[in-house]
Amino acid sequence: MRKQIAAANWKMNLSLAQAETLLNEIVASAHTLGADQEAVFAVPAIYIPLALAKLANKPNVYVAAQNCHQKESGAYTGEVSASMLQSIGVKHIIVGHSERREYFAESDALLAEKVNAILAIGSTPIFCCGEPLSIREADTQNAFVEAQLKNSLFHLSADAIVKVVIAYEPIWAIGTGKTASSAQAQEIHAYIRSCFTAKYGEAVANQISILYGGSVKASNAKEIFSQPDVDGGLVGGASLVATEFTAIINALS
Ligand code: PGA
Repeated sequence: MRKQIAAANWKMNLSLAQAETLLNEIVASAHTLGADQEAVFAVPAIYIPLALAKLANKPNVYVAAQNCHQKESGAYTGEVSASMLQSIGVKHIIVGHSERREYFAESDALLAEKVNAILAIGSTPIFCCGEPLSIREADTQNAFVEAQLKNSLFHLSADAIVKVVIAYEPIWAIGTGKTASSAQAQEIHAYIRSCFTAKYGEAVANQISILYGGSVKASNAKEIFSQPDVDGGLVGGASLVATEFTAIINALS
């Protein structure tokens, strides 16, 4: 059975004191994770040691990074590598969030390198894809997302692709309060899975977790997550509120 994942993306938010308070509230909250369920916290890089300490010994709870550099080490001032993250206990790394694609000009080719670097050391990329509003309005989102997958992931072997988590995040729904309907989410998630089926076969495609992201909150998580091809969510704004994110974890089907 593929994993159901509730992933928090704090982005560049919270002071140290606020981060500590939020983690304390989450640790104290009543969330329940089944054997095939995970909660993942992608906190700002400097709060990773704090999050690791607070969430230690919580079964199926992981701390993630929001980004990494594609090289293992070297003269890349200001950057952090996947192996450095792994060395402190972080094995999940978000790759290709639309904000990184847009504000840091991350290309499909660069993201392929990052995915390779993460998989090479046995860590897990959470690979983001998703279309802008203009593409959705032109109803060409399937081809757009398929190209993102092809360009950054389809060089991988079947053994490698099953280690990648996909996060489909329509850009028009991120931070806008405008969520894709559960039917829209299911439609494109099914399409994404069909792309993996065409390339790797059904058995492989059925092992890949595909998360939905874009204004997921406590009030809509259950319906979105109940769609057959939606395996959880990548959550921005609502992950900064303990009661919201706890409810989202509990909405995993
Ligand atoms: P949002 O962000 O939940 O605030 O829309 C999601 C994301 O960007 O991962």
